[in-house]
Amino acid sequence: MRKPIIAGNWKMHKTVPEAVRLAKQLKVLVSDELKGVEVVLCPPFTALYAVAEVIKGSGIQLGAQDVFWADEGAYTGEISPVMLKDLGCHYVIVGHSERRAYFHETDEDVRRKAEAALAKGIGVIACVGETLDQRRRGETEAVVRREVRAIVEGLELNDPGQLVIAYEPIWAIGTGETATSGEANRVAGLIREEIARWLGGEAAARVRIQYGGSVKPENIGGFMQEPEIDGALVGGASLDASSFAQIVKF
Ligand code: PGA
Repeated sequence: MRKPIIAGNWKMHKTVPEAVRLAKQLKVLVSDELKGVEVVLCPPFTALYAVAEVIKGSGIQLGAQDVFWADEGAYTGEISPVMLKDLGCHYVIVGHSERRAYFHETDEDVRRKAEAALAKGIGVIACVGETLDQRRRGETEAVVRREVRAIVEGLELNDPGQLVIAYEPIWAIGTGETATSGEANRVAGLIREEIARWLGGEAAARVRIQYGGSVKPENIGGFMQEPEIDGALVGGASLDASSFAQIVKF
C-alpha cells in the first residue's frame, strides 16, 4: 500500500515570520490526519530552519525546493544535500518546471540532483510534465517518459518509498486549469509503466505519483480517487492554512 503524500510548494513566498505563522497554523489543522497521509511543507531555503523548529515532533515533514548535487565546494549560491539533511529535510523537490524553464535545468541536472539527495537519505519529489504546445502536438507521453527515464534509468533506489514523481502538466500550474482526473490518472499510469521498465514492477508499485497543477480543496477529491494518483504537489493553495488543510483532508 502506498501512503498518500501531499506536499506544499511555497515557491518564493513567505518571510521567516510569515512562514512560522503558516507552519504553526498547519500544525494545529492537520495533526489528526497524519496517520493516513504524509504531509510535507517546502518553504524557501531561508525559512527551512525556522519551519523545522515549528514542526519538530509533529509528524509533518520538511522539504526543500531544490538542491545542488555536490556535498560542498566552490558553488556560489548553491545548497548541498548535506546541508538539507543537517536542517532535517525529509524531502527535496527536483526538476520543477519553473527551474527547468527559468534556470535552464536539464534532464541530466535533475537526475544528478535526485541521485545526490537519495544518496544522503533525502526523499525526492521529481517533477515531470508537458507544456501546452507539447500537449497540442500529442507529445505528452513521449515527453513524460523521457523525463521519467532520465530520473530512474540505472538509479540505485534502496527504498522506492523515497521516490515521488510529481506529474505536473505545465499548462495547469498556477493557471486555475487542471487536467481531468482521468487524464492525470492515465499519465500517472504511463509514468508507473516507465518506472517499472527501468526499476522493475515491485519498485514501481511502491513509488508514489502525485498530481500537481492548480490543486484546490474543490478538486483534490477527484484526483485522490484515481488508482494511480497517490497525492498532490500544491503551489498556490498551500500558502493558505485553511485551503491546504482541506486538501490534506481530501
Ligand atoms: P499550483 O502550483 O498549485 O499553484 O498550480 C503547483 C506547482 O507548481 O507545484
